[in-house]
Amino acid sequence: MKGIILAAGKGTRLYPITKPVCKPLLPVYDKPMIYYPLSVLMEAGIKDILVITPPDDTKPFVDLLGNGEHLGVSIQYMEQKVQRGIADAFIIAKDFIAGDSVCLALGDNIFYGPFFRRKLRLASRQEQGAVIFGYYVADPRAFGVVEFDSDGKAVSIEEKPRHPKSNYIVPGLYFYDSQVCDIAANIQPSARGELEITSVNEEYLKKDQLHVIPLGKEFSWFDAGNPDSLYEAAGQIRAAQRSGRMIGCLEEIAWHNRWIEKDKFIELAQSMSKTDYGQYLASLGEDI
Ligand code: G1P
Repeated sequence: MKGIILAAGKGTRLYPITKPVCKPLLPVYDKPMIYYPLSVLMEAGIKDILVITPPDDTKPFVDLLGNGEHLGVSIQYMEQKVQRGIADAFIIAKDFIAGDSVCLALGDNIFYGPFFRRKLRLASRQEQGAVIFGYYVADPRAFGVVEFDSDGKAVSIEEKPRHPKSNYIVPGLYFYDSQVCDIAANIQPSARGELEITSVNEEYLKKDQLHVIPLGKEFSWFDAGNPDSLYEAAGQIRAAQRSGRMIGCLEEIAWHNRWIEKDKFIELAQSMSKTDYGQYLASLGEDI
């Protein structure tokens, strides 16, 4: 399975902060935002990753993540030249996906919660169709919204509905089989002129191949796309980490997955020894 992080949004809802810096590179408490979706792909066991960046803005991403070798993964980069919507990722990445299954993570979505690794592994093992998630929010109107029947089966999915049929939104993490590139190539732009990911999901729903995994109330999800949600996300990450578990810690996941050697792990920890992040890694290293 391949992994894609769509990190190409201009972040206009965060102006002026994002005039000189792309949104996925902004800090969310103690690490850059893109660490969170990258950590999710790594938790899912995905090693072959493409980061889609805004035009002419790949360099700072490469400065941060390089080719991924230090994390035991492969990271490539491509640009989204024109903002054509989320589903455009599958048109841009067709050669990278090369007929494989693929997981798409949005660059500004943050997830954490109990048994998430297990849910991700389950989703990545699904052989046919699509796997998405459903997350309860009080006001779902700004998101993709999924409606369930009494058996918990998805029956409709709508993008930013004025009158939502449920409170379950579809967060920015999607697992697809190899049909996705053809599906994305054949959908029509929405009224806002975008190739909507919801249109892709609707196609899977029509084929009866859309699986929705609910994320319970004990779970945390944020879309850090405006000043309030960015601020709130930072506070929540800080509070959650006070309990002792680091969220979005790439080196820890790489080590846990046995993708890097002990020496490499300790070297990475030492390179950040002045921060709590580095000291957390060093404390894990002591147990190795
Ligand atoms: C996008 C998707 C929407 C999804 C959301 C999650 O919204 O279109 O279906 O629920 O991401 O963050 P957008 O960021 O384009 O408003």
